[in-house]
Amino acid sequence: MPTKKSPLIAYDTSFMFAGRPSGSVPLEDEMHELAKRLEAVKTELLRQKKAKQVGFFRSPDAIGDIQATEKLALELRRKYRTLVVIGIGGSDLGARAILRALRPETGGMAVEFIGANTDPEEIAALLRRLDLKTAVLNIVSKSGDTIEPMSVFFLLRDRLIKAVGRKKHAAQVVATTDREKGTLRRIAEIEGYRTLPVPADVGGRFSALTPVGLFPAACAGVDIRKLLAGARQVRDGFVSDPAGKNGPLLFAGLHWEAYLRRSQHVTVLMPYADALKDLGLWFRQLWAESLGKKHDRAGRTVFHGFTPVAALGATDQHSQVQLYNEGPLDKTVTFIEVAKFRDDLSTAESYPEIEGAAYISGHTFSEIIHAERLATALALAKNGRPSGTLTIPVISPQTVGGLMFFFELAVAAIGELLDINVYDQPGVEAGKRAMYALLGRAGYELDETWPRS
Ligand code: PA5
Repeated sequence: MPTKKSPLIAYDTSFMFAGRPSGSVPLEDEMHELAKRLEAVKTELLRQKKAKQVGFFRSPDAIGDIQATEKLALELRRKYRTLVVIGIGGSDLGARAILRALRPETGGMAVEFIGANTDPEEIAALLRRLDLKTAVLNIVSKSGDTIEPMSVFFLLRDRLIKAVGRKKHAAQVVATTDREKGTLRRIAEIEGYRTLPVPADVGGRFSALTPVGLFPAACAGVDIRKLLAGARQVRDGFVSDPAGKNGPLLFAGLHWEAYLRRSQHVTVLMPYADALKDLGLWFRQLWAESLGKKHDRAGRTVFHGFTPVAALGATDQHSQVQLYNEGPLDKTVTFIEVAKFRDDLSTAESYPEIEGAAYISGHTFSEIIHAERLATALALAKNGRPSGTLTIPVISPQTVGGLMFFFELAVAAIGELLDINVYDQPGVEAGKRAMYALLGRAGYELDETWPRS
């Protein structure tokens, strides 16, 4: 495992100033100023942690919830074959990211995801392939009244009752929801479903390392203690490292500088590993929903926000990188590099006499993908485009938990720099109200203040 010399996540920022205008403040002064600000941000975040104002800081230590999660997962793994996770947004993307990254081969349950859309074709397809007699439904909704997962849950529950009978079906439902309140909590109490908590002070997109993400992971056979150990390692580094060496703080600070000084408001996250593709989608929600805000904390109109892009290396070199190299100078790119892949292969001997084929032989695939990442970073820097690289030693529960905590800390830190509330999402309310009105929910209507289509 990584030692002090090889951290869990190393952040290389050498190319983050590519293209920085030469007439601006000297880089040294900019970095000095930034380090001072970041120290103040850290002090403030640690104060919030101590005052128990930000719940996600404590997720890796919530031992009661962790034990309950493991116990229930172990019991269900013995009895059932498939877990159907029904959730959306923060109640969906974290578990998907963990499972895609860790592809457990340890004999856990198969995991299906549904409820992140109301697309009838997807739901019908799941129903066709699912054997409900051997499945557990994990409905995940903190509020319990989100239409996408709840509508799908009601349908699957109905089919489950038809398959196993009303009395027995409750043993095959686990509700992950608020400990005390909400529609789903009420339903779980009426039906006697087993429940796991979403801590009240942890917002949806910060909940991957609570039972929201941990339960599906544990059912699939992931060692969730290792996920949390990775998160703790990153948190400890955040607490102990000075700003100049503090990965999450630097990530926040450099993106903030790029945004404010150079209008670089598009944040591309580009892991060079298929297994981290869904981590990019999880990050996309965290970055967009947390930082896209109309008002600052004093109520002033600011219209802040970064547009996250979830790219995949090397695949998107043939789709996106033309834009990154020659399009508007509005982007920063962060690569995720995996130092050692869990599998590796050598390329085959092919046609030594054909120059365009010969150079491919004699390399491993990991050598090729590393060269592709470095080549992309070099080309971007040559074109004056900033990029940074997060390197993890290997894709493992520790590094996945660590990466998630890294980005959660970075988002919290940018929130301090921009003076915005990163934990709310008032901008999705208007759409919800309109949808309620369109679907005839009592108490909602589209009055004259709404535009007509
Ligand atoms: O980050 C958030 O808070 C949201 O993305 C929620 O996770 C999402 O809207 C789902 O909410 P709920 O868990 O209440 O169904």
